[in-house]
Amino acid sequence: MIVATARAMNTNAPVSNLDPYSDAALIEPWDIYGELQDLGAVVWLQKYRMFALTRYDSVTRALNDAAAFSSASGVMMNDEMNLVLRGNALCSDGAEHRRLRRVIAKPLSPTALNSLKSEIATKAERLVERLVVKREFCAVADLATALPVDIVAGAVGLPQEGRERMLVWAEQMFNCFGPRNARALGAFPVLQEMMHYAKTQALRGKLKSGSWAEGIIDAADRGEVDHACLPVMMIDYMGPSLDTTIYAIANGVWLFANHPEEWRKVCDSPSNVPSAINEILRMEAPIQGFSRLLARDYDMDGIALPAGSRAIVFYGAANRDGRKFPDPHRFDVTRSSADQLAFGWGPHMCVGLHLARLEMAAIFRALAARVRRFQIREEVRSMNNTLRGFKRLAVSVD
Ligand code: HEM
Repeated sequence: MIVATARAMNTNAPVSNLDPYSDAALIEPWDIYGELQDLGAVVWLQKYRMFALTRYDSVTRALNDAAAFSSASGVMMNDEMNLVLRGNALCSDGAEHRRLRRVIAKPLSPTALNSLKSEIATKAERLVERLVVKREFCAVADLATALPVDIVAGAVGLPQEGRERMLVWAEQMFNCFGPRNARALGAFPVLQEMMHYAKTQALRGKLKSGSWAEGIIDAADRGEVDHACLPVMMIDYMGPSLDTTIYAIANGVWLFANHPEEWRKVCDSPSNVPSAINEILRMEAPIQGFSRLLARDYDMDGIALPAGSRAIVFYGAANRDGRKFPDPHRFDVTRSSADQLAFGWGPHMCVGLHLARLEMAAIFRALAARVRRFQIREEVRSMNNTLRGFKRLAVSVD
């Protein structure tokens, strides 16, 4: 609903009192996203005093223009969190960002991942074989969590106790990314534990030799990045490498359970797996939104965004924008949704996307060879400020 224009903010943007972070919106955000899209290319969210970008065109323009939409002051929706992670790849701009990203991206290129490819495929086959025999399992805890925890946590290379905490840290970190609400405040202590661990335990001698995390320290020793950045750079691996993929896999199972005809297309023709992965990510983006700080005044289709204001970029909304994707709420694994935005867009586009795709493809290929139909027995959504997916998803399989 438009209540006024945001004169105090020196903008002519339409203003809305809609709340994309209410419990109801986290469960079912699509109507709110649709209303915000219809209000304009940019909308001022009264409750959070931030702009919302929900149209595909606005989101991609912002993500492509890092000089105007800066990440260096953080990409979260509250000041405390934006101070914590400054200096990692996610929260940096320009030449500094390219330097940090080069280091983080090294073990995540398609060539570097070749060594993990067959291990991922074999582990996915064995896991799915075991679960199918059981007939009923949790698509989150039993299926989606296994590969990321088994393979990725090992490759990151934290000491054992850190590996065991990674899932809890990551989930709570994504709560801290949101606006300063009860979910974020409740998660801050866990984030402090994660940062303390990064500073005191993610050190040479304690990390697995040859691991990705040790690779960051090697890069600092070679002078490629500053030693002072090491703890926050560890977060580039510790934060986004597990939950995102876990949520994506479970979201896929949920979509296929609700759309058996689409699952049949995958079973009948596993060559549909790559496009099905894009369509799963388009429909249910595991990360719904991050933010950017306006580094200068910006004009988006005649709407003024003043320097110093913050804009939330809703990947999840843009992926359901009918201006870009016809009939956007229809799940169709043969649709061409390669330019969906679940991995972001522009210079900060996800560095882990090849790995995430590898893991998802291995799981869905293994399932396609053995499961004709999923049935949901119980579903419990995760109420997280940033992540969209399930805490529990019990399914039975034929
Ligand atoms: C389905 C799984 C995944 C999803 C949906 C996802 C989503 C995203 C998104 C939306 C961004 C863009 C951030 C921005 O615009 O500011 C991003 C960046 C990033 N992701 Fe992922 N991610 C996934 C998996 C992974 C994995 C497996 C890793 C690491 C092993 C990873 C590491 C990163 C890092 C380090 C960045 C920051 C890149 C930069 O700022 O240059 N992600 N991811």
